[in-house]
Amino acid sequence: MRMVDVIRKKRAGEEMTAEEIRFVIDGVVSGSIPDYQTAAWAMAVCFNGMSDAETAELTLAMAHSGDVVDLSAIRGVKVDKHSTGGVGDKTTLILAPMVAACGVPVAKMSGRGLGHTGGTIDKLESIPGFRTELGRDEFFAQVNGIGVSVIGQSGNIAPADKKLYALRDVTGTVESIPLIASSVMSKKIAAGADAILLDVKFGSGAFMKTAEDAIVLAKAMVAIGTEVGRTTVAAITDMDQPLGRLIGNALEVREAIEILRGEGPEDLRELCLELGSQMLVLGGQAKDAAEARDKLKSAIDSGAALDKLGQMIAAQGGDAKIAGQPGLLPQAAARIPVLSAADGYVHGIDAEEIGLAAMRIGAGRAAKEDKIDYAVGVELIAKRGHKVVKGDTLAILHTRGDDEAARSAAEQIVGAYELGDEAPAANPLIYAIVS
Ligand code: URA
Repeated sequence: MRMVDVIRKKRAGEEMTAEEIRFVIDGVVSGSIPDYQTAAWAMAVCFNGMSDAETAELTLAMAHSGDVVDLSAIRGVKVDKHSTGGVGDKTTLILAPMVAACGVPVAKMSGRGLGHTGGTIDKLESIPGFRTELGRDEFFAQVNGIGVSVIGQSGNIAPADKKLYALRDVTGTVESIPLIASSVMSKKIAAGADAILLDVKFGSGAFMKTAEDAIVLAKAMVAIGTEVGRTTVAAITDMDQPLGRLIGNALEVREAIEILRGEGPEDLRELCLELGSQMLVLGGQAKDAAEARDKLKSAIDSGAALDKLGQMIAAQGGDAKIAGQPGLLPQAAARIPVLSAADGYVHGIDAEEIGLAAMRIGAGRAAKEDKIDYAVGVELIAKRGHKVVKGDTLAILHTRGDDEAARSAAEQIVGAYELGDEAPAANPLIYAIVS
């Protein structure tokens, strides 16, 4: 088989056979297909799409390109959760202990941040001493013992996706529904959970700009999950502004603790209750979303959810006192207010721009090998619907000092705010559930 013929076939809009798809993925992993041919093929997929059968085949080929984790040594229905990427998205830090406190085992592998989006593993590593690399036996024993562990993704989960994604990122071929669906689902299938909850974002900070496109993506992923016997549910959620108020690694741990204490911003709390409810139902710990929500609220009110976070931190070598005293987390040396340049109602806050501003002051990585500063980030004071006048504080930068990076981040934050004369219509945070 020759790659050039496969590219021509896809360019002509024809359906690839399972054998051709496996040929592409094997060649991507072994390096026998050069990057320029893989990129040409990805562009042909972007233009011509893929059938459901092709998407399922591509997903399975990528899922089996590396290790496939067997979680059967962990008792109970393991439910994984994945977000298609957001800014200020610290839901895993909240959901993992919260649903574990309600009886759903969480054996989760998470990633690091790159570019404008943060990563759960970097956030957890802002807790002094916290270990994100556990051996398989320790990981399983922790989940069987306390019900929860979140660790870094092992080196060899879906290596085909890793290579393909890096290439898509630099060839303008990320935004393709079959390519995104197969990328996400290949990793979830390889990670071994019995059931999968997807948080599919739409809006300025997401790959999918509209709810309609997010629904198409969600349906494609749910269909793949169903096809391979993993119950899959997707929540379609708004990313027209960052989630919660805090963006940055230690800052996001702090906000997660606030939610687990029954405090914190309403949008984040509501999203966690909704996603957590779906996880409890998927995990067989509640008969419906209403019962699940009551259980989650009780876990917060009784302190059980926060205790579970403390147990997880202690088990993974971190300072468990942080769950009760988030002031012990790393703190930035300077706090610089970012002021509004105009009057108006906040209609939206470009999440990608806020993520990039946080990255500029050290909260994220521009390149994989960059070191991050756990203490720095952005605190949003005005969010969608707020009325501001010129000179009001829109946000506070938590930085190392009033340097060049802080000044350009402040400018970028002002530019990220979209102001209007009228109050904006209320946007539902959770637009739909696809199952
Ligand atoms: N997230 C992924 O894991 N893959 C994509 O292709 C896009 C978002």
